[in-house]
Amino acid sequence: MSLLFVFRFALRLCRPYWGSLLLIAACIVVETAYVAVSPLSFQYLIDDAFPAKDAGLFALVLTLLVIGGAFYLGAGIVSDRRLAKVNEQAVYDLRAQLFRHIAGQSEDFHRRFDQGSLTNRLTSDVSAVDRTISGVLPRTFRELLALLIGLSLLFHLEWKLALAMIAGFVLLFASPYVLQRKAERSSERYREENDAYIGIIDEVLKGRRVVKGMNAAAYILGRVERRLASLQTAGIRVTFVYALLDRIPQSAFLALNAAMIGFGGTLIFQDQLSVGSFIAFFTIFLSAGQSVSSLSQVIPSLIEAGVSFRRIAEVLQYRSPLARPSEPKPFEGVREGFRFRDVAFGYDEHALALDGVTLAIPAGGMTAFVGQSGSGKSTALQLLLRFYDPKRGSIEVDGIDLRELSETDYRRHTGVVFQDSFLFNGTVYENISLSRPGVAESDVRAAAEAARIHELIERMPEGYATLVKDFGGNFSGGQRQRIAIARALIGSPRLLVLDEITSALDPSTEAEINELIESFRGERTIVTVTHRLASVTNADLIVVFRNGTVAETGTHRELLARGGLYAEMWEKQHGFVLSGDGFQAKVEGERLSRLPFFRGIPFEQLDSMSDRFVTEKYDAGHTVVRENDPGDKFYIIVRGRVSVEKAGVRVAVLEDGDYFGEIALLKDIPRTADIVTVKPTVLLSLRREQLLELTAAYPSIREVLERTLKERMK
Ligand SMILES: Nc1ncnc2c1ncn2[C@@H]1O[C@H](COP(=O)(O)OP(=O)(O)OP(=O)(O)O)[C@@H](O)[C@H]1O
Ligand SMILES: [Mg+2]
Repeated sequence: MSLLFVFRFALRLCRPYWGSLLLIAACIVVETAYVAVSPLSFQYLIDDAFPAKDAGLFALVLTLLVIGGAFYLGAGIVSDRRLAKVNEQAVYDLRAQLFRHIAGQSEDFHRRFDQGSLTNRLTSDVSAVDRTISGVLPRTFRELLALLIGLSLLFHLEWKLALAMIAGFVLLFASPYVLQRKAERSSERYREENDAYIGIIDEVLKGRRVVKGMNAAAYILGRVERRLASLQTAGIRVTFVYALLDRIPQSAFLALNAAMIGFGGTLIFQDQLSVGSFIAFFTIFLSAGQSVSSLSQVIPSLIEAGVSFRRIAEVLQYRSPLARPSEPKPFEGVREGFRFRDVAFGYDEHALALDGVTLAIPAGGMTAFVGQSGSGKSTALQLLLRFYDPKRGSIEVDGIDLRELSETDYRRHTGVVFQDSFLFNGTVYENISLSRPGVAESDVRAAAEAARIHELIERMPEGYATLVKDFGGNFSGGQRQRIAIARALIGSPRLLVLDEITSALDPSTEAEINELIESFRGERTIVTVTHRLASVTNADLIVVFRNGTVAETGTHRELLARGGLYAEMWEKQHGFVLSGDGFQAKVEGERLSRLPFFRGIPFEQLDSMSDRFVTEKYDAGHTVVRENDPGDKFYIIVRGRVSVEKAGVRVAVLEDGDYFGEIALLKDIPRTADIVTVKPTVLLSLRREQLLELTAAYPSIREVLERTLKERMK
């Protein structure tokens, strides 16, 4: 029963302040009793004091009314003040509890509650708790009490009238119950719509650069409008149901009013009731009726509060599926290394992102996870970081299952840098010392020096006190990554985990960062994920992932010699020259000769063709090719990543060394898909006219092209 649930939830929140609660309750009793009892004065005034002109009785009644009034006022002020305090304390406790709970959650939690929903629960739903404790519940208590006192007085005055009235009140109360389920459902629906709405506000604000850059305002406005429309539908429904909840008792009360006057009047005509008693009765009846109508208005608020309370309880009751050992083992560092034993993991029930992964990561070495997009590299890293536990198999460090380790210990000794480093809106100092607030200044400086960002920070007017704005928007990509690296180095972690940390950087910055990472080798175990093989040729161990499994492991030399997947990927990424700023790229003729449709064409012809390629450089989120547009260019990806999308659905991801648009070289047909960059991307493009010029000079190219294309299009 949702109303009981609201009472219990609120009581639990206020339990630490039970002394104040008792005082508040006592004050409310005083206030309510005064309001309920004072109409009785009419009976004494009209029936006794006025007809007999008894000034003494009149003065007594008046004095009692004034003294009572003073108590009423005093009690009111005391309870208001106490209530304000208890309420704010309880809400503070709840907010703090929610944040503590959320901070301790693993990734599963965020898959269960998306961002919009969580934001809404932490804001609107907590406000509903606030309103309920400060207003709705005290009001309910007050009105119930007033009703109770009023009813006993009414029975005392005239039981026949009182009985008739109760029958009417039952009707008044019953109506909200009939509508309660409907109201709850409409309110839940509205809340969910609101979650989605908040989610989309977040997307619009976070994605604003992509929206502007890609001229996608129409798309995003379309989505916003659809959201608003369903929010509106849910809003109309919820408003109407709640208005109905209000209206029914009000109308019932009007009817009851008329019945009371009729019945009371008849009793007066039959001399069964004095005029003074009738007026006292009717005044108390009006105020009891007021209480009933107030209660019937409070019920919708309580139903709404019930929905909010439940949504908060859901968050608080969420228990992470991550194993928590009863006696966690300490973790002090990596002595031998990590071992994945037949690890399987899936984000949901249907598909496995990793399956049967077995590998060893040597202590103190640099291990690189490579492989195509979606092959499971980041997933393996997240398991290593214990964001999730494996569904099958185990991950061990020095022979101990990660699940048996103390999580705090383990996290203290791991540092991590992601592709998009999230900086917090505080000072640079705070950002670096994030995991160790209050750490010695010399440690922060040492970490910044190790990340080679110290000098730059010192040169800024505010130094380490420089404010990070817009989550790092006032720093360059390379600077952000260096700050993130310094942040990861604080406390000298034994395990340093890096996920594609250079993929958004220019080639020269990338080289600097790679060199920086090289300098950390030996001191700690480093695991790095990258799809750019050139940056990990020196790694002690390279693990090649394919479709969630480990395809090969070895050093760069060993893997090249093996001639497997790694060698194939290396071949593909090889043969480009890129300037440090990433604005000038060149493809070698030898590399062109390895494209299937240029196979067999003499090198010198391909070399001269290589000069005709033009470099195009885009940020993430740029549409390079639009479906159905005329196609006249062929592209090779020098570095970066693009998504191939048909009707808005991703059908493939292409990366360094991949190519697209080759059909355009020969045939004048429209593009068959959208190509959108998902990372900063450098492309080389060749226009059809230029190829045609070339084929005019070297007819053999055309023959080969036509032959290979015919084969490809079969
Ligand atoms: N949070 C997630 N929820 C659901 N599925 C996910 C999630 N993250 C990854 N996946 C899926 O798991 C698989 C492995 O993804 P993973 O991110 O590990 O690949 P990756 O090798 O790191 O690729 P990339 O180079 O694109 O970063 C993919 O099929 C992906 O769609
Ligand atoms: Mg990844």
